[in-house]
Amino acid sequence: MTSRIEEAINVLKMNDRGDYTVPTNRLYPYQWNWDSGFTALGLWHLDKNRAWLELASLLNAQWKDGMVPHIVFRQNDPDYFPGPGVWQTKTSPSTSGHSQPPVLASIVWEMVQMGGLDDSNKAREIFPDLLSYHRWFCEARDPKKSGVIGIIHPWESGRDNCPDWDIGLAGVDVPNNIGEYIRRDTVHVDSDQRPTGYQYDRFLTIVNFGRKVGWNHEIIYNDGPFLMADPGVQFIFLRATKDLLEMARYLGQDSTLHEIEDWVERFEAGSEWLWNEKVGGYCARDLRTGKFSNGLTNASMLSFYAGVGSVEQQNKSIDNCRRIMKACKFAMPSWDPQHPGFESHRYWRGPVWAIMNYMIARGLSDAEFEDLAFRVTSDTKSLIEENGMAEYFDPLAGKGLGGMNFSWTAAIYLDLCRDSLTRDSGGIVKRAIAHGVN
Ligand code: GLC
Repeated sequence: MTSRIEEAINVLKMNDRGDYTVPTNRLYPYQWNWDSGFTALGLWHLDKNRAWLELASLLNAQWKDGMVPHIVFRQNDPDYFPGPGVWQTKTSPSTSGHSQPPVLASIVWEMVQMGGLDDSNKAREIFPDLLSYHRWFCEARDPKKSGVIGIIHPWESGRDNCPDWDIGLAGVDVPNNIGEYIRRDTVHVDSDQRPTGYQYDRFLTIVNFGRKVGWNHEIIYNDGPFLMADPGVQFIFLRATKDLLEMARYLGQDSTLHEIEDWVERFEAGSEWLWNEKVGGYCARDLRTGKFSNGLTNASMLSFYAGVGSVEQQNKSIDNCRRIMKACKFAMPSWDPQHPGFESHRYWRGPVWAIMNYMIARGLSDAEFEDLAFRVTSDTKSLIEENGMAEYFDPLAGKGLGGMNFSWTAAIYLDLCRDSLTRDSGGIVKRAIAHGVN
């Protein structure tokens, strides 16, 4: 029987398109931003050059203003909707019109720390691109310098249909003719594991607005149909900015230190705005109305990863974390299971995601909650070992859901098994890397 390690290697090979990796065949036939970031981490354990190529190809699609788009369309694939014809960004290569959680700098820093001189040299080459990506977030997503990132589409959070966005989506007016489109996702995956039609209509309305204003992000931020603060993007960005700072010091990029230090200070202070005392945790919040989402998510648990919160706030978050873990067989669900709206199998409204667990566990460990970090890591491993490389998992039943043969799940699994990969005395992994596993 093929081991899960071999299976993970095979998944990355199957999804390899030369210089980039698709998240999974058919359902997601293009290059996705944060998927490529995590995939690079997994690839790094197998083939360092290929890992750096993954990041370089993504950064090739970076916009002139610094934005790294959430999807890069290298060809038109009828299996996916909405494709390049809907976005019409007029970029080369064609891309979507907004970004995704900026994990790149953190992944690069991790690869540099694990690696040698070659890795440092590769990081030095792309450092200016990472810096301009962060600068874009500061300018386009926080133009008022409040220290709070605003996302202009739920897709920018990477947590597409999380209940977090329900308050923001309620304010999106859908025109009558929006029904004239055919979804492709529900052809590949059961519709009860995907966003609803109500949500999809609103997702497309926001895209249509962006297209109409020529993807001018000043107009979209000020007048677009949706603008919310997301603990996920906020904390991932803050952590990535801290990692960028460490990397800048390490690589001797002295002229950039001051600017990056200012960002760290600004977004640490701004994070306080996301603290929801009523629930005892960090929650999404509508930037225009100030209204809070009242539930905790796996993104709320990233506050430790970003290193924010007073001792009192941390203790409240930890109490909630323990309560949620007790209610689930597998941590960490994407929505509080004891809160209305929890659906154990619907995408970001309940299921567990390996990439989120990877970041949550790191944060909990940094903050010295080792027992909780251990639980998150061992649950991730068990879910994958029992179910294979599923897109996401049911936190109650432990079942694999969504697309199968998923790159980022495979990549996280390989990272979790990094010690076995280094040892590999039987050479099984080396053979799998060289020939693929059938
Ligand atoms: C879904 C996820 C998003 C991911 C993409 C590709 O849209 O919500 O986070 O990047 O699929 O895997």
